[in-house]
Amino acid sequence: MATVSFDKATRIYPGQEKPAVDALDIEIEDGEFLVLVGPSGCGKSTSLRMLAGLEDVNAGAIRIGERDVTHLPPKDRDIAMVFQNYALYPHMTVADNMGFALKIAGVPKAEIRQKVEEAAKILDLTEYLDRKPKALSGGQRQRVAMGRAIVREPQVFLMDEPLSNLDAKLRVSTRTQIASLQRRLGITTVYVTHDQVEAMTMGDRVAVLKDGLLQQIDTPRNMYDRPANLFVAGFIGSPAMNLVEVPIADGGVKFGNSVVPVDRDALSATTDKTVTVGVRPEHFDVATDSDQGLAITVNVVEELGADAYVYGTAKVGGDDAKDLVVRVNGRDVPEKGSTLNVVPRSGETHVFSTSTGERLSD
Ligand SMILES: Nc1ncnc2c1ncn2[C@@H]1O[C@H](COP(=O)(O)OP(=O)(O)OP(=O)(O)O)[C@@H](O)[C@H]1O
Ligand SMILES: [Mg+2]
Repeated sequence: MATVSFDKATRIYPGQEKPAVDALDIEIEDGEFLVLVGPSGCGKSTSLRMLAGLEDVNAGAIRIGERDVTHLPPKDRDIAMVFQNYALYPHMTVADNMGFALKIAGVPKAEIRQKVEEAAKILDLTEYLDRKPKALSGGQRQRVAMGRAIVREPQVFLMDEPLSNLDAKLRVSTRTQIASLQRRLGITTVYVTHDQVEAMTMGDRVAVLKDGLLQQIDTPRNMYDRPANLFVAGFIGSPAMNLVEVPIADGGVKFGNSVVPVDRDALSATTDKTVTVGVRPEHFDVATDSDQGLAITVNVVEELGADAYVYGTAKVGGDDAKDLVVRVNGRDVPEKGSTLNVVPRSGETHVFSTSTGERLSD
């Protein structure tokens, strides 16, 4: 087991000017499950491949434990990688697929068998060891790919969207299995996904990337409660946080007919005339009075049973109507076309600089 550090690691692909990954700085603890998340093309796979030794590092360094591995070939890094296209060998049995890397490394047959059986037990694959991959379900194949990584007992696991071939239901159950397996084995893991729900449910910490730049690295809780900038605020959470540009008023910001109190320091930190206020859908209270707060015209109500999401429009700051999402009690949903008055709950608003996107409130 080992720590992993990206020390201002940069990758510029040949012929490109802009780095695909720009001075990435992350310290991963021994045994930690770190998730790299971000939109397509933000540099997740490139970061992982740099750590694996499959991609050159043009500046900075990468360390595994005490070792500087920046220029070591993949085979000397003591890592095991699970890819999206886990490509099992179709002509080999599950047992042979799982033991293949050990066989290449010249490990004695009996020892391979023992390690494969141990891994199969952990992964609930014992009864499938003699089958060929085509006679397995998608989830079982995915577990064989995990087994291939486990038998090597590496210092670090690297996983690049390993669940994206599975259907939605299987993905949910498999992500729980992988997370609990990782905790049991205690092997430092770097996991790549573009799915923020996967990131938030699996990671000890989550690192959000955009355009090759690290935006924030934090626990899922902190990431949700205190997003560092507008990008993270909009990316983490589903439905997304409502983000509206509002004028600064005396003692706070003007939100429809209410002034929402906002930390003075937050407002004095900007020279802009407006700030961007973020409110999560679950952080609105329905007002009892129709001239209170913000009047939302209800366009669509999405009923989920316990809760319902109201999709509507409102004039928040200026004259332009703005789309908003509000979570309401599932037993008390407004009619389509009606008006719903809501007030952002105090202490649950996020304030960002409109010009820089940086968080202003604490
Ligand atoms: N071999 C390459 N040569 C040139 N540019 C590349 C190469 N591989 C990736 N890129 C570019 O580098 C950037 C980061 O790519 P990367 O594959 O790391 O993104 P990603 O975050 O994994 O995206 P996805 O979620 O779509 O897998 C992208 O703009 C991509 O076009
Ligand atoms: Mg990728």
